[in-house]
Amino acid sequence: MTDTEGLRPNERKVALEPAADATLRFIGTIETPWRDRADCPRQGRLDGPECRLVLDPVWHDALTGLEDYEMIEVLYWLDRSRRDLIRQSPKHDGRTFGTFALRSPVRPNPIGTSMVKLLRIENGTLHVRGLDCLDGTPLIDIKPERCAFSPKAAAKPGDSRD
Ligand SMILES: C[S@@+](CC[C@H](N)C(=O)[O-])C[C@H]1O[C@@H](n2cnc3c(N)ncnc32)[C@H](O)[C@@H]1O
Repeated sequence: MTDTEGLRPNERKVALEPAADATLRFIGTIETPWRDRADCPRQGRLDGPECRLVLDPVWHDALTGLEDYEMIEVLYWLDRSRRDLIRQSPKHDGRTFGTFALRSPVRPNPIGTSMVKLLRIENGTLHVRGLDCLDGTPLIDIKPERCAFSPKAAAKPGDSRD
């Protein structure tokens, strides 16, 4: 394999030791209609297809109170990404950017985030719209959204749920 194999024009990578990851504990799996990156949206849309966050049963009780929120933030591990590019040339753009100037899945720690619409919670499975990840993507965390949309139960002073 040559040093530039798999790279687009002007892309640059670094030589890395195999990652010694911080210990993340995946809390479940995301089910989406997309098996192939080519079909997957670059960013989720709130009118996109219904997707599911399937939590491991040990975390079901940790959902208590989340049903009060219309919008939630989802963090996930883009597990099929390469992690060694420092400059990237997005397809169809023609320009080159530093990795931290992009929301590309290719990054040293491939964490994806999306604000999604919470439709309902059934037996520890959250039904949502607004995701952009492949089927089977590991789920890292879920947080209630607190800025753009008010929770149905308004926060009181001293009760920020932070
Ligand atoms: C541009 S990223 C944006 C992710 C997130 N919304 C963000 O801004 O952090 C979304 C793209 O990542 C790719 N992707 C989705 N799931 C992935 C996975 N599990 N592993 C690697 N790449 C993935 C797909 O090409 C998808 O279009």
